[in-house]
Amino acid sequence: MDSFHSSFPTITFFFISLLLVSTIAKDSVEHLSFSTTISSEEYMHGYKLGKEMETHLHFYFHDTITGSKPTAVRVAQGPNTSTSATGFGLVMIMDDPLTEGPEPSSKLIGRAQGMYSMASQEEVGLLVVMNLAFFEGEFNGSSLSVLGRNTVFSETREMPVLGGTGRFRYARGYAVAKNHDLDLVTGNAIVEYNVHVLHH
Ligand SMILES: *[C@@H]1O[C@H](CO)[C@@H](O)[C@H](O)[C@H]1NC(C)=O
Ligand SMILES: *[C@@H]1O[C@H](CO)[C@@H](O)[C@H](O)[C@H]1NC(C)=O
Repeated sequence: MDSFHSSFPTITFFFISLLLVSTIAKDSVEHLSFSTTISSEEYMHGYKLGKEMETHLHFYFHDTITGSKPTAVRVAQGPNTSTSATGFGLVMIMDDPLTEGPEPSSKLIGRAQGMYSMASQEEVGLLVVMNLAFFEGEFNGSSLSVLGRNTVFSETREMPVLGGTGRFRYARGYAVAKNHDLDLVTGNAIVEYNVHVLHH
């Protein structure tokens, strides 16, 4: 009896709090075409945000290695890279456009600048070291640094975001890559990215 009576106000309070939190969350969500930022005292993906914000970025990465205007070039290779089925030892430098939509003509929102190397003898597995430099909206001039493993034939690949600059100071998070269009003849790829970062 007593426990029913004492738990009733707690439940009511719980629902009022829920309502309040959802109102705050709605008010503080900011929408850019390729990004969504949430800032409130909320739990997102199991983290208490406190003064931090969580931003979700969605864009397409275009890696062009053939043709007259490649955006990624071979700079080094190992002694047996040319006969390795996984390209082991190959090192590429990229300056790849990031766009809002999947078409190469879609709006440019940034560039992925850095390198990737073939670091696996068992499968096509890249070591990726890159900065994502953004040119659009509130993130113009800000960047994120990514370091991770990318097995390009896997359905999805996850790479850690280790830091950032500008609006992304103190950033940490993860990037999920998924092939949108991988041309096995040319090696050119369009990859969909979903990046989640906590930052100040
Ligand atoms: C490269 O391949 C040759 C021939 O298979 C082999 O003898 C040599 O040890 C390989 N070198 C390296 C560095 O793996
Ligand atoms: C981004 O910032 C640069 C340098 O401040 C400026 O020249 C450019 O117009 C800005 N781009 C956008 C889309 O706001």
